[in-house]
Order: sequence, then structure tokens, then C-alpha cells
Amino acid sequence: MKNIVILISGNGSNMAAIVQTAHLEHWATQWDVHVAAVISNKTDAKGLDFARSHGIATEVVNHKAYANRENFDAAIVQHINKFEDANHPALVVLAGFMRILTPDFVNRYAGRLVNIHPSLLPAFPGLHTHQRALDAGCKVAGATVHLVTPEIDHGPILAQAIVPVLSDDTADTLAARVLTQEHLIYPRAIAKLLQIS
Ligand code: GAR
Repeated sequence: MKNIVILISGNGSNMAAIVQTAHLEHWATQWDVHVAAVISNKTDAKGLDFARSHGIATEVVNHKAYANRENFDAAIVQHINKFEDANHPALVVLAGFMRILTPDFVNRYAGRLVNIHPSLLPAFPGLHTHQRALDAGCKVAGATVHLVTPEIDHGPILAQAIVPVLSDDTADTLAARVLTQEHLIYPRAIAKLLQIS
């Protein structure tokens, strides 16, 4: 069995899209691939309800309860450990997970740690991507799925989606257009990485 462990901080709509695609495409029966767990650093992350209602194990690891990033990351590793062993390494998927991970964490999961970022990387790493794209006068925007490396929002690109920027866009309308595409490319990029499509 290949387990996917998804880390979220909020709505979890990308996580839900991955779970729904896995279900629709029968990843479990066809490929023995499962979304095994959802871990949130926020107790009230909306995505936790979706995960629970779909029978997925959930964990909350509140970053505020840890003295430093190293201890927080170590607690997350402990939870991920429950869903993998030496013969079955998990795929660790960041889906709107808004914490910076330590290099030790990133290196531990090298090649099997993926992220989605709401910009056309390498443009606009970091926060407030949609407003920055509008401020820069971009005519297109988009999202990027990439392997995670220690440098934030860098790493080999696995997939991108492009959307137009409309003249009356706000950061919110642009974010919504980009998010629709995120829901399409993230499950596909994961399937490709796992060689199940
Ligand atoms: C998504 O737009 C994702 O790309 C972004 O947060 C949103 C999470 O939405 N991620 C980042 O900004 C990471 N730096 P979701 O919780 O509904 O999936």
C-alpha cells in the first residue's frame, strides 16, 4: 500500500480534490494508493471536517504548542511515521500548509514531498501572490505543483496551470480562478509522480 499524507492549514479544498479524484479513479483498488491521513497545524481548519467525514485519519499538531520549528516538525514526523515504513514510504503532500518546514524535514522526504503554490513559479514565491501579480500588471497568472526543496517555493516543477488576468480582477477573484485550476493539476501531478496515470 502507498499512503498519501496531506498537510493542511485551512479550507483544504486541494486536499478534498485529491481525495475525490482518488475515489473517482479508484486509486485504492487499481493502484493500492490511499489518502491515509490529514494533518493540520490549526485546530479549526475547515478541511479537517471533510477528512473526518470521509473516514480519513486526522491529526492536529498546533505549531503554537512547540518551542521551535524543529520540535514542531519532529511532531509531524512522528505522525507521518504511523503511515509509512521502510518498504512503504509515504508521499507527503502540502496543500495550503502555511508553515515553513526545516531543511531536516524537507531532506527527510526528498523526492516525495510536494507543494502547490498559487503563482507561476519562479514568479512570486511567498505570500500575497495574487495581489502581487495584479500590481505587476501580469496578463496571466496561475499555479505550480513542485517538489519541495529547502529553499521556499523552489524545487523542480511538476505541473503548472495558467489563467488569464481580467481587467476587473481583484486578488479574490483571481485567487478563485487559480484555485479552480489547482484542483485539476494537483491530483494529476500526484498521479503522475506515483506513476499511476
Ligand atoms: C491554495 O491556493 C494554495 O495554492 C495556497 O493556499 C491555498 C490553500 O487552499 N498555498 C500557499 O499559498 C502555500 N504557500 P486550500 O486550503 O483550499 O487547498
